[in-house]
Amino acid sequence: MPLLSRRRLLQGGLALSALGLGLPRLPALAAEPRILTAGPGEALLLEAGQPKTRTWLYDGVSPGPIIRARQGEEVFVRLKNGLDQPTTIHWHGIRIDNAMDGVAGLTQDPIAPGETFDYRFTVPDAGTFWYHPHNRSWEQVARGLYGLLIVEEKDGWGGAKQDIAIVADDWRLGEDGQLDEASFAHMMDWSHAGRLGNTLTLNGQDQLDIPVTSGERIRLRLCNTCNARILELRIEHPGIWVVAEDGQPVPPRELTDGYIALSPGERVDLIIDMILDPGSTATITEVSADQRLVAGHLVYHPSDQLVHTKPSPVPPPALPANPLSTNLDLAGAQAVELLLEGGAMGNMAQATYQGETLAIRDLVGKGQVWALNGTAGMTDTPLFSAPRGRSVTIDMRNDTAWPHAMHFHGHHFKVVERNGKPTGSEAWKDTVLLERLESAKIAFVADNPGKWMIHCHMLEHQAAGMTTWFRVEG
Ligand code: C2O
Ligand code: CU
Repeated sequence: MPLLSRRRLLQGGLALSALGLGLPRLPALAAEPRILTAGPGEALLLEAGQPKTRTWLYDGVSPGPIIRARQGEEVFVRLKNGLDQPTTIHWHGIRIDNAMDGVAGLTQDPIAPGETFDYRFTVPDAGTFWYHPHNRSWEQVARGLYGLLIVEEKDGWGGAKQDIAIVADDWRLGEDGQLDEASFAHMMDWSHAGRLGNTLTLNGQDQLDIPVTSGERIRLRLCNTCNARILELRIEHPGIWVVAEDGQPVPPRELTDGYIALSPGERVDLIIDMILDPGSTATITEVSADQRLVAGHLVYHPSDQLVHTKPSPVPPPALPANPLSTNLDLAGAQAVELLLEGGAMGNMAQATYQGETLAIRDLVGKGQVWALNGTAGMTDTPLFSAPRGRSVTIDMRNDTAWPHAMHFHGHHFKVVERNGKPTGSEAWKDTVLLERLESAKIAFVADNPGKWMIHCHMLEHQAAGMTTWFRVEG
């Protein structure tokens, strides 16, 4: 409803109420919730003719339905828990009202089987985000509970003809095509790289074919929903530009080799000019397992339309900036150190778990093998507390033999240093990969009051201790 008529309504309302007739009701931002049901389902993850896999899904589809909203608008989702265990939804990467962040035990109680919960929040940033449970996520995400949250630019963005989203996941399936359930909560995985799958899907399919047309420009959104695998995708096509990382715009940067490494939880938005001849195909492969696994194709429509076949010399236009707090005060920042320890082949001898100091042997018995600053798992008190508006730097050091994808809730940060050297990076991330023995310094403005998680997004590492939280004072 345009502003003018709203004002008229308000004025009319005042007059009416003076007559004792009450105020007319204005329509709410999002009057009706979008119902989303988490429950058991089936998905064909293998080639046609193979058995379907029994999974847990949102609304019965893999990946879950894309929830689309326009920047500045309200999202209103009513989650129905049709699972036989408690769940929640976390809206990954969205700078959200803390009460809606969906972290069981920190920002809300887990939603019991048969119950519902209303998630209602406005979306400040345009970009590619996703949603997934934040209760036993190592199991619930692995079984298929996730979907994309796409926030469209407030005033639209005419930069691309087609907007395509791809969710990539690896599943661990047995010979029968069913989830390898025996390997859930397996200490071997939890103390090593996490639970890696053996079957890769793009948008839940064994092979994803994306129809394109010569001469058009596409926007491709990629999201890694794997529990633990660092995906290494290659789009075998010239002229690929990165325009956003973790939902936040970056100055367009050309990917000369088409190679994209994505840690669990990370997203990237690409712009690709369709400069090949009509009828061509370009392969999308995955190479993290040291083999070239074909996962999908860009399939050009065969037509006799004339097209230019040279890479476009013009970079795509940048995406409009989001309203992030980018005014970092590095000199006056609150400095926090974060030491990542533990895991197989590590040298952690002991850690505190639930207030007790335990030797590594006893920690293993409790399924806790990773620690942050000497503590495994969640604590009653936060790692640190920052006044609202304060700049914070976190010096992270990975003293383990494994990579970790460190994820922060409610904020986006800049990676200002890696291994002691300035990065010059312009990206505002919510997840950063630390290779074994690597260090990184990140910085952000603590501008969102509430209790926010910090954890490794390798979900087995999170479950096995690599998790903590911080508070931003209201
Ligand atoms: Cu995508 Cu705390 O998680
Ligand atoms: Cu980790």
